[in-house]
Amino acid sequence: MTKISIIVAVAKNNAIGKDNKLLWHLSEDLKRFKRLTSGNPVIMGKNTYFSLPVRPLPKRKNIVITDIEGEQIDNCTMAYSIEDAINKMDEDKENFIIGGASIYNQFMPFADKLYITWVHEEFDADTFFPEVTNDEWMEVSREDITETDEKNPYQHSFVVYKKR
Ligand SMILES: NC(=O)c1ccc[n+]([C@@H]2O[C@H](COP(=O)([O-])OP(=O)(O)OC[C@H]3O[C@@H](n4cnc5c(N)ncnc54)[C@H](OP(=O)(O)O)[C@@H]3O)[C@@H](O)[C@H]2O)c1
Repeated sequence: MTKISIIVAVAKNNAIGKDNKLLWHLSEDLKRFKRLTSGNPVIMGKNTYFSLPVRPLPKRKNIVITDIEGEQIDNCTMAYSIEDAINKMDEDKENFIIGGASIYNQFMPFADKLYITWVHEEFDADTFFPEVTNDEWMEVSREDITETDEKNPYQHSFVVYKKR
């Protein structure tokens, strides 16, 4: 079965973005994102693709989802529906859903693992992550980062969940 994981950074109020941008810069989180996703396919909505400072993300198969049938973006694999994106994933790899809000929502039923960076602050936002409920998700690992510095200005926790 195709392995599908969601990776996301979420604030206390479930905020994930505003004006098609991230809400914070956490250097250690970006490094972890790179470490986990490198060599694996990354799947994203078109808004998130165009929000990336470097695109496509290097050393990863970038699958970009759009409703505009036939649209092409250089060096990306295009998908025109959720099913189409699943068909274009690699069966022998961990396929990472990297956002944004609409794509996370639609992939929650298909994902069996969540890598959530919980940022322990509230932010003004226009995009949010869906509720992560104990009924559906079991926490399997947690690393709490309590030290802050210039490059990592907010306390945060790296938490991994598996679907029950
Ligand atoms: N905190 C985090 O970890 C994180 C991670 C990623 C993104 N974000 C944030 O999330 C925000 C972007 O999220 P978003 O919800 O606005 O956009 P998005 O999910 O990145 O992209 C939405 C677009 O994807 C396409 N799409 C979505 N569902 C589709 C379907 N079923 N079939 C075909 N195409 C589909 C449509 O593209 P067309 O319009 O071309 O049809 C839609 O307009 C930004 O603020 C970004 O910074 C946060």
